[in-house]
Amino acid sequence: MKKIKVNSYEKMSRQAANIISASIIMKPNCVLGLATGSTPIGTYKQLIEWYKKGDIDFSGVSSVNLDEYVGLDENNINSYRYFMNKNFFDQININKKNTYVPCGIAKDLSEECEKYDENIKKLGGIDLQILGIGHNGHIGFNEPSDCFEKNTHIVDLNPSTINANARFFDSIDQVPRKAITMGMVSIMQAKKILLIANGKNKKAILDKALFGPITPKIPASILQLHPDITIIYSEE
Ligand code: PGA
Repeated sequence: MKKIKVNSYEKMSRQAANIISASIIMKPNCVLGLATGSTPIGTYKQLIEWYKKGDIDFSGVSSVNLDEYVGLDENNINSYRYFMNKNFFDQININKKNTYVPCGIAKDLSEECEKYDENIKKLGGIDLQILGIGHNGHIGFNEPSDCFEKNTHIVDLNPSTINANARFFDSIDQVPRKAITMGMVSIMQAKKILLIANGKNKKAILDKALFGPITPKIPASILQLHPDITIIYSEE
């Protein structure tokens, strides 16, 4: 486990972007596992800037996102597909056909989950998985539970997650109660993992996840078992 502590959100974002950019340079057709939320926005901004300068080429890259709200389609400004298009894909030269986000409006959600895992396998697995961490220790939308969920699955969001994410919606009632999320197998089978976190309010959960017992009550704690994980933390 490699831990990097920096003193600003900008530095965290730049370091993360450096690692992602190095992965693309080393393997132009790499598969990136991508995350949404406030934390990675600066990382995506930095990558866009380097792309515009001509330093990164995303044309061979594929991506798989961690999760999506059930019931929101790509035109809904709160869907994660919308987030990814707006904050990243629409501003770089990635082929959108090679970007995968679970479909939250699929008629058959369990089939969508199975297809999502099959697709990750077809792509050859994830080369570099970017992760944020929720205040309750969730990664993707793998919420605290009695067991680690292996595969892509439908999850009931925790009240604490609904509260935390309400800031993006007009009212808390609009926050979907269910989501579709990649499970632990695809995450843990990623060749490399990059966990980014910022803010003093993430310190306690990060310490528990990285140094406490490995338990599904803190889903991120499973990352202690990954052979190649880098954590970049900024207190600000
Ligand atoms: P955040 O979310 O980046 O908005 O803090 C992280 C997460 O919930 O995984």
